[in-house]
Amino acid sequence: MLGTLEPRPPYRTRERLKALRDRPRLKVSDEARFFRGWLQRPLVMGAVSPSSRALGMSMAAFVPDPARFDADSRVLELGPGTGVVTQCLIDRGVPEAALVLVEFSPEFCVLLRARFPAAHVIQGDAYAPSHALDKVLAGKRLEAVISGLPLFTKPDEKRERVVGGALARMRPGAPFIQFSYALTVPVKPRRIGARLETSQWIKRNLPPARVLVYRSA
Ligand SMILES: C[S@@+](CC[C@H](N)C(=O)[O-])C[C@H]1O[C@@H](n2cnc3c(N)ncnc32)[C@H](O)[C@@H]1O
Repeated sequence: MLGTLEPRPPYRTRERLKALRDRPRLKVSDEARFFRGWLQRPLVMGAVSPSSRALGMSMAAFVPDPARFDADSRVLELGPGTGVVTQCLIDRGVPEAALVLVEFSPEFCVLLRARFPAAHVIQGDAYAPSHALDKVLAGKRLEAVISGLPLFTKPDEKRERVVGGALARMRPGAPFIQFSYALTVPVKPRRIGARLETSQWIKRNLPPARVLVYRSA
């Protein structure tokens, strides 16, 4: 005998609607935000869309094992944008409360504070000295710095200062992790007394990019 077709209980529809409402914002709206930011400030944004998760996970893999972190461990992200790489850091095991995010765009800062409420979000210029950053990092240990800054839009001295300055804040050998679309490197390691490791090109990103890891020599 054919079973009777029960109408779906109405609560299911309600639940579905609620799940749709509550889900994290669609990636497409991040793309739109990013594109709008690029139209307004192309040199600050340096890219028309957020990085892919493949690139973010490749960057996060260079962060030292978070299982060895303690309560004073911090990971600093410069130019987190909409938080693709930030999420990859969390997925790698970095506690959200250990994250310090420095982002220039006030709009992205609002988004980052909503998405990562336990992280320290600082709105400001990553190339400039920052009292707020010094305060957040006082007495803490910086395990890694991870950067999405479009370094090529700045003169050599500024690039060297941001990478060299970050290495000077960390224990010897700790990584400054940067992505780049370019064939040349944004900072020559010998200029800042560092060594440089580069990843394979990550093709699952538009445009393909690679990860550069600077460490004090
Ligand atoms: C190429 S996007 C990378 C965004 C994100 N990390 C990603 O991979 O999708 C560059 C980001 O750096 C931010 N940025 C650019 N210059 C900055 C500065 N001087 N200080 C802080 N953030 C900056 C931009 O607002 C933007 O969010």
